[in-house]
Amino acid sequence: MSQFSIAKAKRATRADRWVSFNSRPLEISALYLLTRISRVLKVPGLGLLVSDAGVMRQILMDGEHFSKTAPGGTSDLWNPVLRGPGLLNMSGEEHLDLKRKLTPMFSAKYLEDAIGAAVSKETDRLAARLLRGESVDIVKSIEVTAARVICTLSGYDLENTEEFEVLEQLERARGLMRFIKLNTKRLSDEQVAIAQVELADLHRSIHEAFDSDRAGTIPHTLKGFGLSKQDTTSVITALVIAGTETVLSHLPRFTALLLRSDYLNDLHDDSDLDAVVQEGLRVTVPTPVMLRGMKAPFEVQGRRVKPGDRILMATIFACQRLGYFDPRRTMPKEYRHIWFGAGVHMCIGLPLAGLEIESYLKMFIKVNQQQPIRLERAVIRRGTLTAGYRELVISCQTS
Ligand code: HEM
Repeated sequence: MSQFSIAKAKRATRADRWVSFNSRPLEISALYLLTRISRVLKVPGLGLLVSDAGVMRQILMDGEHFSKTAPGGTSDLWNPVLRGPGLLNMSGEEHLDLKRKLTPMFSAKYLEDAIGAAVSKETDRLAARLLRGESVDIVKSIEVTAARVICTLSGYDLENTEEFEVLEQLERARGLMRFIKLNTKRLSDEQVAIAQVELADLHRSIHEAFDSDRAGTIPHTLKGFGLSKQDTTSVITALVIAGTETVLSHLPRFTALLLRSDYLNDLHDDSDLDAVVQEGLRVTVPTPVMLRGMKAPFEVQGRRVKPGDRILMATIFACQRLGYFDPRRTMPKEYRHIWFGAGVHMCIGLPLAGLEIESYLKMFIKVNQQQPIRLERAVIRRGTLTAGYRELVISCQTS
């Protein structure tokens, strides 16, 4: 029998919104209030603020008027860090060409072979610890997983790398995200120089795997797609930048949602997990905003916009309009995957994010069936671009 309680689901959703608010209280509250005025609003100094899933989708699908590389888009921010083509800083034919080349790397089979073990090693360890009756910090566990993923992408031989070294690479990669705020348009020369130092070890490893043609590594796969060493480095750097904080933000929040709402008790096997995974992402929205510049004048719901204007899509508030966490709800068409974007720039890492999320979810379901999991302690992380927990301790209830 379903144990889903609307009151608990609402409380779980409110707790997640509190996490999101605490990431950047001023910016998040200001954006929230503005999106209450209208779903499409011109805000002096900010740009056109959009918080409607349907309108956002139209913008994301329209490459004729809106662009990531036009002034106001995100390419200026990433160019000096990526130092070459890395999807995040591209548009047009070149972008599509590179995205097509990279697609085989994101097939379920390739990801399972190349990255599956890096994730399952940690989920297996976590399951064993929970079943032994230990209290475990999910944030720490997910950091280990994210660190292993980063190092796998960069060609490390994980079997022969100590865990502290893997975690150090995560810390360094995360270091550069501290420079990014909701309104950051460019990094200063000093910040770019620091970012290059933080990424130096990952870059060295990419170059080594590329030069030595080490089979089974991602740099070697990209070389096989015809990418140069610099382009391989730019692409992997982009994957590390885009794919790390997002998963680190989401997975502990998703865990908290499942436990606070009691929905985990409604999940009995591995089949049909799509609805709960989608709904978890719809509530948490790890990438709170998306940006575009203008290539040509246009009218969005009666508001004129022209080259030089910035379009700020507040995915977080568009998604909140649908209400509290409820995986039983049919997802309206305009919302589908909108937290991953839409159109040509839609997240290429979706299948990898899916692999990581499902690995944890399947492990939780298995453990929970043997011994119910409960949330012991949650400490919110404050003052970061992506919302999240500093600590989220869970354990199994002993009978
Ligand atoms: C829950 C996890 C994730 C979320 C919510 C997420 C969200 C997004 C969003 C919203 C975009 C589109 C941004 C825009 O159009 O302006 C995007 C693009 C992108 N994401 Fe993700 N992402 C996640 C995980 C990942 C992972 C794991 C990777 C790679 C390892 C990744 C790599 C990328 C890249 C390279 C792009 C740029 C794609 C392009 O411009 O063609 N993401 N992501």
